Amino acid sequence: MPKVILITGGAGFIGSHVIRLFVNKYPDYRIINLDALTYAGNLENLRDIEKAPNYVFEKADILDTTALNRIFETHQPDGVIHLAAESHVDRSILSPLDFVYTNVIGTVNLLNTAREFWKNDFSGKRFYHVSTDEVYGALGESGFFTETTRYDPHSPYSASKAASDHFVRAYHDTYGLPVVLSNCSNNYGPNHFPEKLIPLFINNIITGKPLPVYGDGLYTRDWLFVKDHAAAIDTVFHNGKTGETYNIGGFNEWKNIDLVKLLCRLMDEKLGRPAGTGEKLITYVKDRPGHDRRYAIDASKINQELGWKPSVTFEEGLSLTIDWYMDNKEWLEHVVSGSYLEYYKQQYGG
Ligand code: NAD
Ligand code: TYD
Repeated sequence: MPKVILITGGAGFIGSHVIRLFVNKYPDYRIINLDALTYAGNLENLRDIEKAPNYVFEKADILDTTALNRIFETHQPDGVIHLAAESHVDRSILSPLDFVYTNVIGTVNLLNTAREFWKNDFSGKRFYHVSTDEVYGALGESGFFTETTRYDPHSPYSASKAASDHFVRAYHDTYGLPVVLSNCSNNYGPNHFPEKLIPLFINNIITGKPLPVYGDGLYTRDWLFVKDHAAAIDTVFHNGKTGETYNIGGFNEWKNIDLVKLLCRLMDEKLGRPAGTGEKLITYVKDRPGHDRRYAIDASKINQELGWKPSVTFEEGLSLTIDWYMDNKEWLEHVVSGSYLEYYKQQYGG
């Protein structure tokens, strides 16, 4: 198996959990974290492992092919786990090209660099592309996304991820690059940037700001605790079959409004506020354009072939997540200053 692993996007939400897991679990591996530190990248996410002897940080943009060549030359990685991306649907509606650059061109740059450095010998090499269930589009009331569901993306974000998935498969089919892919449902947990539903609403409940529920609030998502996603990534990286795709999900569907009410109830208890305080903040706002009605993952392939399943229930995970935000106010204060305020104003007004 690869022992020198280049992980892209390691300073972001999911990437930081993957880095921590690999650095702690595999002391004989060398983990290189390549991240451009965009608004979503935050080295505070990795304070506890930044001095580990098997960890290196490289600040670089995947659009910068000179930097990619230098990093491959310096570290000679034999494995890549690619998470770096622009990841927020609402931002993709505001500036789609940023998503084309990083998610499509950045991914192709990384594929080219890996191919170039590995071309003489693909044995023992692995390029793992981390993707999303959003590439499959929207479901009605029933049914699940499987690995063979036709791609049908609706947002600039999901279209850019779909394009990157196609390029990864094309490099396998055309050049024999040893790739593996996974498509995961919505993650939640510590270190999640407060632009996505759960951390945004936790922050707004703490600060007493409105909770902007899009449309009728009956949109459905399948939620997975981020550490369970990191464990799935570990499983797929080590045991997944080359050329294959694995769907990863939480078996945990929630309508947005039900989730928001659960969050409000848990936070009223934890903050010692009277029952119903949080719910008073719920405000229905204009819907997101192109909003996918329902996502639901059939994760039976990874479960049956690789033995992975989620370990944390939603109530446990949500409770741990709220506790983390309440215990890490400084982290939250740092990330919601500066450019976050401009984005918030543009997206939600006020
Ligand atoms: P994130 O936005 O929290 O983090 C993205 C990271 O990538 C940041 O550290 C950022 O600095 C870095 N980055 C962005 N552009 C870059 C560039 N051009 N060069 C180098 N680094 C760059 O994202 P996340 O939620 O942790 O998602 C990670 C990956 O997992 C993404 O590929 C996303 O599509 C996928 N995914 C996310 C979810 C989810 O619920 N968050 C679910 C399924 C799949
Ligand atoms: P989000 O966390 O942005 O993830 P995704 O769009 O990738 O699934 O949104 C989750 C759901 O919550 C989605 O149906 C949109 C909705 N939502 C709101 O209702 N209000 C908000 O302010 C946000 C950010 C999301």
